[in-house]
Amino acid sequence: MKVLSVASEAVPLIKTGGLADVVGALPAALAGHGVEMTTLLPGYPSVLKALGRLRSVHAWDALLGVPARLLTGKIDGHPLLVLDAPALYARDGAPYGDAAGQDWADNWQRFSALGRAAADIAGGAVDVRGKAMRFDLVHAHDWQAAMAPAYLRFAPFGGEARRVPSIVTIHNMAFQGWFGAETFPRLGLPREAWSIDGIEYHGGIGMLKAGLACADAVTTVSPTYAREIRSAAFGMGLEGLIVARGRAVSGILNGIDTAMWNPAGDAALAARYDARKLERRSVNKRALEAEFGLDRDDGPLFIVVTRLTWQKGMDVLLEVLDHLVGLGGRLALLGSGDAAIEQALHAAAARHPGRIGVRIGYDEALSHRMQGGGDAILVPSRFEPCGLTQLYGLAYGCVPVVARTGGLADTVIDANPAALAAGVATGVQFDGVHYDAVSAALTRTVDLYGRAEQWRAVQKNAMKCDFSWTASGQAYADLYRALLA
Ligand code: ADP
Ligand code: GLC
Repeated sequence: MKVLSVASEAVPLIKTGGLADVVGALPAALAGHGVEMTTLLPGYPSVLKALGRLRSVHAWDALLGVPARLLTGKIDGHPLLVLDAPALYARDGAPYGDAAGQDWADNWQRFSALGRAAADIAGGAVDVRGKAMRFDLVHAHDWQAAMAPAYLRFAPFGGEARRVPSIVTIHNMAFQGWFGAETFPRLGLPREAWSIDGIEYHGGIGMLKAGLACADAVTTVSPTYAREIRSAAFGMGLEGLIVARGRAVSGILNGIDTAMWNPAGDAALAARYDARKLERRSVNKRALEAEFGLDRDDGPLFIVVTRLTWQKGMDVLLEVLDHLVGLGGRLALLGSGDAAIEQALHAAAARHPGRIGVRIGYDEALSHRMQGGGDAILVPSRFEPCGLTQLYGLAYGCVPVVARTGGLADTVIDANPAALAAGVATGVQFDGVHYDAVSAALTRTVDLYGRAEQWRAVQKNAMKCDFSWTASGQAYADLYRALLA
């Protein structure tokens, strides 16, 4: 079976968050299930630069009004297609906005073009060596790719007879791609697409909404998030549509790339280890203390690796820092995002020298060193479709302390007395992201850390968890087959 996976990010070419880890891992996760997955990405400068010379296999004179080419290459040995449209993608800054953080005004066009190209490619518009490239199914990720199912439904290449089924995966309901009604005439869609079961949303176009309405199936990245988005608190306005799609919506938990995230073979670590050699983590802990300018001591060292946003509960983290330090804890934080949160973190670090260390920026290798040396990773997210950093924490014996929501609820077993007695606890969970809940969880974590034998047991349970792609790869393959049947 040939599947076209469409997204705006994929490791190792372009990443702003977990979406990239997942899109980058899927081709390998599915290869063992008889699925050949080709990834289609926008031709951002960083993507073109990383790939060097690519072969051009197709050209559009006017893809939503601009010239574009399709390039072929490889991503970690799997087939890759790159949409090279300089008018849309050749610019400095981030994938979705300029260096000042302002969204690009033409994002409607940049990502509708991606969807239009995907529908063309899947439908057979591209000839390679005289033979049309064809796909059995299109798998679109998040709002940036979600117009693909809309084009497949309302304007498929080659007409209705060539219509290809599609899936949309929601990685984050908070980002929906809403644009004004004036963009509609420029999308090249028939009038009937402008409707409540099409792409119209609150008087404009909703790109994620379009995908949710038009795809044959909708998935999200954890079973709990799949349930949560049926409610107003998590559905962000789209809960009605999610409920209406009924059984077409399901949750498939993300996996992690166990070749990249394995403490026994991680080249980023000062000392590699496995569950039988946990004492070696202290070498990494000492190195981390030095790197963050923290006091050297045997108390618990918390880490945070995150985008600095409201979703991630960073405002509440700021409120609990004095409590964390009061408990004898220390914190090493790596993140970037909201400028006000960055400043407040720097101020907290200045208030607690030797106890709180902050690194603003994006640093993949450092994030590995933190998982390998920290005692516990704190994830106080208000909502979390899946979350990957707690999964990396589990694999590294860096005990996750998480809000009970989304994928965090699905992947961590709280160290309550029953779970401890049964020997299954893997972390600490708390209900609600506010001062009382998070500070109580910190107290509980520090107590547990003080009971060294129990703490070790929790670390070992965590490291035994299997969050590789094995089960989830199978689940996606089953869903693809069900749609084609
Ligand atoms: P989200 O996609 O919502 O940001 P996830 O937990 O799914 O959350 O994925 C975040 C990914 O980005 C993880 O791979 C995490 O390690 C990484 N990450 C986040 N912030 C940073 C940072 N400042 N430096 C390095 N890696 C980071
Ligand atoms: C999103 C979510 C995160 C999820 C990631 C990959 O960015 O915020 O929870 O893990 O996508 O699916």
